[in-house]
Amino acid sequence: MPGDPGRKLNMPTLVIVGAQWGDEAKGKLVDALATDAELVVRYAGGNNAGHTVIVGDREFKFQLIPSGILHERTVSVLASGMVICPKSLLEELCRTKKLQPNIGTLRISSAAHVVFPYHLKLDALEEEARGANRIGTTSRGIGPAYQDKVARIGIRMGEFVDPKRFPERLKEVLVVKNRLLQLLGGEPLAYEELLAEFSAYAAQIRPYVTDTDIIVQEAVYGGNRVLFEGAQGTFLDLDHGTYPFVTSSHPLSGGACLGTGIGPRAIENVIGVCKAYTTRVGSGPFPTEQDNETGEWIRRHGKEFGTVTGRSRRCGWLDAVVLRQSARINSLSGWAVTRLDILSVFDEVQIGTRYLLDGAPIDHMPTDLEVFGRCVPVFETLPGWKDADLRGCRTLADLPPNARAYLDFIEAQTGVPVAMVSVGPDRAETIMIRPDLVWG
Ligand code: GDP
Ligand code: IMO
Ligand code: MG
Repeated sequence: MPGDPGRKLNMPTLVIVGAQWGDEAKGKLVDALATDAELVVRYAGGNNAGHTVIVGDREFKFQLIPSGILHERTVSVLASGMVICPKSLLEELCRTKKLQPNIGTLRISSAAHVVFPYHLKLDALEEEARGANRIGTTSRGIGPAYQDKVARIGIRMGEFVDPKRFPERLKEVLVVKNRLLQLLGGEPLAYEELLAEFSAYAAQIRPYVTDTDIIVQEAVYGGNRVLFEGAQGTFLDLDHGTYPFVTSSHPLSGGACLGTGIGPRAIENVIGVCKAYTTRVGSGPFPTEQDNETGEWIRRHGKEFGTVTGRSRRCGWLDAVVLRQSARINSLSGWAVTRLDILSVFDEVQIGTRYLLDGAPIDHMPTDLEVFGRCVPVFETLPGWKDADLRGCRTLADLPPNARAYLDFIEAQTGVPVAMVSVGPDRAETIMIRPDLVWG
């Protein structure tokens, strides 16, 4: 292996992590930054993600494929921390190649878990059983697939694409799953049909499946530029998010280590992608939510509807308490503030800077969900940059003074510098302020 994992590390490795509750525009940034990357690695989640990349008049919606795939020179890795729905992956590949025939090389970890139709059925049945406490999942079988991984009965990519092992593994798992489906009031699945359908997918996916840990390690320790693409967002993390209203994986920057097979010292920089306001899809507390005309304005003007499910996203002002927690938990080097252009409709903008908990001020997010749910935000009001067209701005100096003041305020509240700003969905609509905080 090139390099020495024990030496003092100084590597051009970068994690792009969602700093809020997802949909912060990670996909757009990963695509823009992948121009300079040898490897782009998705480390968690599955097709619950929806990452939009716009290049000219072409719109790509990536759910499983890393957002660096449009760069022919770049190798895109679906790493071991992911759960992969084969049908969705093949459809996505087909869709992508239709829009751009020449794409980068794709590699899939033999340790990633496979999502089967029983996971989707169980996702729906579990949600139904939760009643009023439903999580509002994306219905993609993500939770049940990760449950199987933890229960050590999941089927991994390596055995899925091996025709000698797959039939037996499917048979043994399906017996258990069918019992569970029936217990929850669902219909069992027929083994022969499932085997035939999924064996056909396996044959198509087989050429991509390999040991990706070694690919990532060789690139990292060999000093190549490696970009780790986060999915979901910090507060959807299973351990550190707003549990139980979270996903079942680890979107945090730390997830990039566990989900790919590298250690913490191999990560040089971490950019937290922060939407200039806040959105959330699904249930759970959201202190700065504006369930009013303001929220409606943001939703309509920002077209805040889910990339995957089309659901309305809940909208609200930026929350500096959330961002401070995000900065610490991800050990952020810098922010990428996105969708700043969307706020151009307001005379004034607001930022939550702390909370009142039963009347007493606090400046952190309580871990207990019930306590967090009682937090009432305290807002500061800043002058807006109404009607300014930000989409043509390419340097910090091009931005209106009030927009720059907004970025300064984020820095002052969080102690983390703004490294990049996104002012539109296109690759080109990006302002690089601190390249040193991005690739080092
Ligand atoms: P992701 O899941 O974090 O990759 O984000 P999504 O793709 O789900 O949602 C982000 C949306 O914002 C997509 O429709 C992008 O095309 C769009 N977008 C990205 N950056 C910007 C920006 O700076 N301004 C505007 N107006 N739209 C953006
Ligand atoms: P990207 O990568 C926003 C949310 C769901 C639900 C919770 C659990 O596009 O930012 P799951 O299906 O994962 O069990 O749902 O997590 N969720 C997301 N919200 N963006 C995402 O991905 C999300 N992935 C999952 O809405 O509240
Ligand atoms: Mg999304």
